[in-house]
Amino acid sequence: MKANSKILQRVDMLREKINYHIYRYHVLDDPEIPDAEYDRLMIELRQLEQQYPDLVISNSPTQRIGATPLSAFSQVRHEQPMLSLGNAFDDEEVVNFDRRIRERLHTDHVEYVAEAKIDGLAISLLYENGELMRAATRGDGMTGEDVTHNVRTIDAIPLTLRGSGYPKRLEVRGEVFMSRAGFARLNAHQQKKDEKLFANPRNAAAGSLRQLDPKITAQRPLSFYCYGVGVAEQGVLPKGHYQVVQALRDWGFPVQKEMRLLKDIHACLAFYKQVLAKRDALAHDIDGVVYKVNNLEQQRALGYISREPRWAIAHKFPAQEELTKVSAIDIQVGRTGALTPVARLEPVQVGGVTVTNATLHNESEVLRKDVRVGDIVIVRRAGDVIPEVVSVVLSQRPQKTALFVMPDCCPVCNSKVIKSETVSRCSGGLICLAQRKEGFKHFASRQAMDIEGFGEKLIEQLIDNDQVKTVADLYYIKREVLIGLDRMAEKSADNVLAALEKSKQTTLPRFLFALGVREVGVATARALANHFGSIDKVMNADFDALIKVPDVGPIVANHVMDFFSDERNQKIIQQLIDAGLTWPDIEVNTDSGHFPLAGNTYVLTGTLMTMTRDEAKQQLQALGAKVSGSVSAKTTAVIAGDKAGSKLTKAEKLGIEVLDESGLVELLGSHSL
Ligand code: IVH
Repeated sequence: MKANSKILQRVDMLREKINYHIYRYHVLDDPEIPDAEYDRLMIELRQLEQQYPDLVISNSPTQRIGATPLSAFSQVRHEQPMLSLGNAFDDEEVVNFDRRIRERLHTDHVEYVAEAKIDGLAISLLYENGELMRAATRGDGMTGEDVTHNVRTIDAIPLTLRGSGYPKRLEVRGEVFMSRAGFARLNAHQQKKDEKLFANPRNAAAGSLRQLDPKITAQRPLSFYCYGVGVAEQGVLPKGHYQVVQALRDWGFPVQKEMRLLKDIHACLAFYKQVLAKRDALAHDIDGVVYKVNNLEQQRALGYISREPRWAIAHKFPAQEELTKVSAIDIQVGRTGALTPVARLEPVQVGGVTVTNATLHNESEVLRKDVRVGDIVIVRRAGDVIPEVVSVVLSQRPQKTALFVMPDCCPVCNSKVIKSETVSRCSGGLICLAQRKEGFKHFASRQAMDIEGFGEKLIEQLIDNDQVKTVADLYYIKREVLIGLDRMAEKSADNVLAALEKSKQTTLPRFLFALGVREVGVATARALANHFGSIDKVMNADFDALIKVPDVGPIVANHVMDFFSDERNQKIIQQLIDAGLTWPDIEVNTDSGHFPLAGNTYVLTGTLMTMTRDEAKQQLQALGAKVSGSVSAKTTAVIAGDKAGSKLTKAEKLGIEVLDESGLVELLGSHSL
């Protein structure tokens, strides 16, 4: 069918709109419409193009994925070599870099641009008349590989430039990378499909870009930031690096938020400290910062030495991956009996902190990585993720190492270990001292019964001396018993008793959470309490009633039933109530009572100390609040943990309320827990 002019106009309008929303999303980081609306525009454009194939153009936003996989990559010779950067590891080397520059330029004063050094892969993008013609990897700096078909699938990279004034031939350079969240999602997906896992976001980005089939690349969460220009013909560019990058932004390229124009090298050193402090809170890995002379005339005068520019330097951060030796693999027994292998490591500095342990998650993980005692391993610590063993350096494996085996009996209580595909569990239940201790710690913890001063040491002594068997026994402890314990004076014994007494006035969600039913976290406990209103109703609920509760699926429903049908647990609950634990029952079916934070939107940023961001999110959502990823005028409050970054700045700019972690805890606590 031939398209009439109305159809033509509609297709043009859709392409323009879609490109505009891609720009809002990837460049301005300020989407104007919800994803679903964007999807509708794409669907409409796709339908029209299917109906009128004559209207398809290669740079239409629907044409990001090419039709056929390649059989090999072809080589691209860079018209201007892609250089690397010299490194500085301390302030002194940076100051010397600045001194050399000022001496060569015979000037006292040099302006710098400071940027984050993104840990990804360098890419060259060639545009002719504003259309993306070719994308190439850096390769050895002189010759790279043609990865156009893959790069076209990255939404953050424009196929057509926006605005005007760009040179007719323009080569834009920058970094393709994967966010930490994208990397975690990709690896989880790979694991599910039993496919190869990537060691870190950088490797994942590299692996994704070197796919012969662009359909695979299209499914990978790749991003891009531009940081400079190579070839520029038939047109003029601004005279400073900073201004060039601002122009690139106007033409549709994402620019990192960390980039600053600074008056001298001292400001650069201060910048280094600021970025290092917020490194863990960033969405992606960075391995340092880069300082570049801003004035392009001065850059040309300085030139290059052995493939490195004299006008730029990378100031490196402490590495996020290091080598160390596995001295032992211990087994930890958790509250629910799950056995977790933990690698004990020779102490090593990773990303600025000393690492001595790394979780190995479970048996299949240890076997997949084949970690053995005596091995040299790569340890990684990035973002707020706990340290991980990435892989073993097999070439350095000593002779006579033994394959890891999960014990058949619990290392603490010797009960039989029951193994499933992913978890091995001690069958000892409360016989197992480890499970008992963890259960007590959980029971006394801040979000559960909140028994102040009831720490690990005290719990261990009470259990080891056999003075308490179940958590109910805590409320029957005699003052003399406490005073008889190590490092327990009369005064502290009285404090403990007072804390126990105080904890008796509690709430139903806290009590349900404290019982430690498998997979019943704070949010589920709250949902159960809100739904049923009283402990009796929760205890008597059958499967059908349980799965009606928001947040409760078949697995959790079964755990809840198993727990409450166990007579030992029923007895403990009765003893607790007899000891004087009380809470107000909850009136069910009143909407306001269920969702006290309904209508409020929160943004979480930075690292929280007492819970993960995910836990905080779940708890806020359980109270009816929305949790959003970006700050806008509609945000009720921003919750800023440690090392909060740009979201905090934006909140302050917009005059939005900011809560710190204690503010969050208070907010959650004041609503029903
Ligand atoms: S400028 C001649 N800026 O670091 C200057 N590079 O070691 C060329 N990189 O190959 C690079 N972030 O892959 C520059 N803001 C940034 C960067 C950056 C990451 C990478 C890039 C380059 C390598 C140099």
